[in-house]
Amino acid sequence: MRILGLETSCDETAAAVLDENRTVLSNIVLSQDEIHAPYGGIVPELASRQHISSISYVVSESLRRAHLQVKAIDAYAVTQGPGLIGSLLVGLSFAKALAYYFQKPLIPVDHLQAHIESAFLEHSNICFPVMALVVSGGHTSLFFMKKELDYQLIGRTRDDAAGEALDKIAKVLDLGYPGGPVIDKLAAKGNEEFFSFGLPRMTDKSLDFSFSGLKTAALKKIKELKISKRHPQFSDFIASFQKAIIRALLSNLKRAIAKFNLSSLILCGGVARNRRLCQAFKELAADHHIPAFIPSSGYCTDNAAMVAALGLRKLLTGKSQAPFLALNAYPRFL
Ligand code: KG4
Ligand code: ZN
Repeated sequence: MRILGLETSCDETAAAVLDENRTVLSNIVLSQDEIHAPYGGIVPELASRQHISSISYVVSESLRRAHLQVKAIDAYAVTQGPGLIGSLLVGLSFAKALAYYFQKPLIPVDHLQAHIESAFLEHSNICFPVMALVVSGGHTSLFFMKKELDYQLIGRTRDDAAGEALDKIAKVLDLGYPGGPVIDKLAAKGNEEFFSFGLPRMTDKSLDFSFSGLKTAALKKIKELKISKRHPQFSDFIASFQKAIIRALLSNLKRAIAKFNLSSLILCGGVARNRRLCQAFKELAADHHIPAFIPSSGYCTDNAAMVAALGLRKLLTGKSQAPFLALNAYPRFL
């Protein structure tokens, strides 16, 4: 049994092959960072065009590294949404064509659920019920999972995603794109207590997130205090802003822990690469005596191994749709 996964929801063209034991036979990710860097953020039209020119090569390379011919693939999995609609359509159309031509099943996969699956890919000891915090450039969401493949969305961002806020402040400070990894490095040199930022709170006591207020507060400070790379407190500012984002993320997680009876915590998505966030997440989990799981760096950011893994899980539990040609991509949460 061999499953080929495809991921094109944002700015990474990715393909991966897994076997029935969930062993990753190949995992190819072609980043478009260089294409979008001059704009300080993703340009959707450029992203979909780049997916079109890369996808064939990326799929061939994933097969070559798995030492397989395309005929040897038994099933396909593809990200159906959420994401950039043009980008999603490239992967979905390509996967449909392959599955139709070779008469194999095609399993559509949700991008956020695939991020959660990336933790299960490397850890076989994750027990349910699970609380998963998905933090990426496009999404910030909390999912409660009572059992396998049962995703209950209990909190999501009402405006910016956490990674988006980091990327935007990095852009204003001329730190390049994507800003998250640069902020991670610079923050390590700064005093995170130097500047204070408020804690965003929902008036309706929901577990939703909001990062636009923090972003606006940071922009105001940058203007008023003339913060730039040459400012003596530059790394203190970066560290304090990063701390504010982490505090906002973990304060909701803490409230979720109090509400639910949990056996495991998962932190995943691109921002889960952040070292300070990982440390604070592990401390929070230890304080509550709940085992904590974070995918390794390469599985935090967008990849197709997580898509293939979730596709395989759905296929093996019979939770996959048979007719796939009518499938459409969805840009937002269903
Ligand atoms: O999951 P991902 O690859 O794409 C989306 O689904 O959005 O996440 C990309 C996000 C970007 O905002 C990037 O700045 C952020 O992950 N990121 C980080 C780090 N590495 C990537 N943010 C903070 N610290 C990092 N080390
Ligand atoms: Zn993602």
